[in-house]
Amino acid sequence: MAEGLLAVRGLSRSFGGLQAVDAVDLDLRRGQLLALIGPNGAGKSTTVNLLSGVLQPTAGSVALAGAHLTGLPAHAVARAGLVRTFQNGRLFGRLPVLENVLVGAHARCASGLGAVVFRGAAFRREERALRERAQELLAGLGLGADAHREVRELPYGQQRKIEIARALMAQPHVLMLDEPAAGLNSGEVEALIAYVHALRAAGLSILLIEHNMGLVMRLADRIAVLNFGRLIAEGTPDDVRNDEAVIEAYLGRRKPKQTADAAH
Ligand SMILES: Nc1ncnc2c1ncn2[C@@H]1O[C@H](COP(=O)(O)OP(=O)(O)O)[C@@H](O)[C@H]1O
Ligand SMILES: [Mg+2]
Repeated sequence: MAEGLLAVRGLSRSFGGLQAVDAVDLDLRRGQLLALIGPNGAGKSTTVNLLSGVLQPTAGSVALAGAHLTGLPAHAVARAGLVRTFQNGRLFGRLPVLENVLVGAHARCASGLGAVVFRGAAFRREERALRERAQELLAGLGLGADAHREVRELPYGQQRKIEIARALMAQPHVLMLDEPAAGLNSGEVEALIAYVHALRAAGLSILLIEHNMGLVMRLADRIAVLNFGRLIAEGTPDDVRNDEAVIEAYLGRRKPKQTADAAH
């Protein structure tokens, strides 16, 4: 059986009177893909923010390969090897694609962006190796020819790929993808699925946060389902597909008076 890598226990976060994440347990095994799904407002993004140190939990613990991450700030979590992408990308639009990807190499350094900007002679050889690696990642994503273009010139779907390349530059133990398919057209979604599948096949451990159930069914080893902050199911795609509470949680959001939400 695959080894436990990321263990989340009793993770909770409230905002005033609202319990956005309520005693959530998650287990990601090494080399597997765990999907965290749920309708809008279920608490997915809050969970990602708690896991990545952007938000602090009101209760619970997070451990990566046995090391406690609970309460650490975001840069320390990334340095420990838990690296995320953002649902709404944070790219530098006026910088070339390659430079944006290189920023990721420094996500695990305390010096952060400064190390990219103020590089001295001693760093040149390492920098060349990093550039080669960034170029390889871009080639793998079909962006090899776009490395020197400004990010803002590329279509949205390509920009989302740059975010993934940037996260991979940090050589994460766990890659956390926050709704990577959001805003992509169907062709772009297919390309994304193939790429995530390849990362998983290469042995990367992935936590995929996604609203679209069809997409995760094709990628996940296991699926955890959130609804109103609570875990309502956890299991294989087949378990979850047939789970009545899950079906109800998703179908319940499609009642006529809530169609605006269902379209999201
Ligand atoms: N910073 C915040 N302050 C107050 N309420 C929040 C905040 N962030 C999220 N929420 C609320 O927490 C709940 C879960 O939100 P979120 O984690 O964004 O859900 P999801 O990503 O699954 O759509 C929602 O009811 C949302 O309105
Ligand atoms: Mg969200």
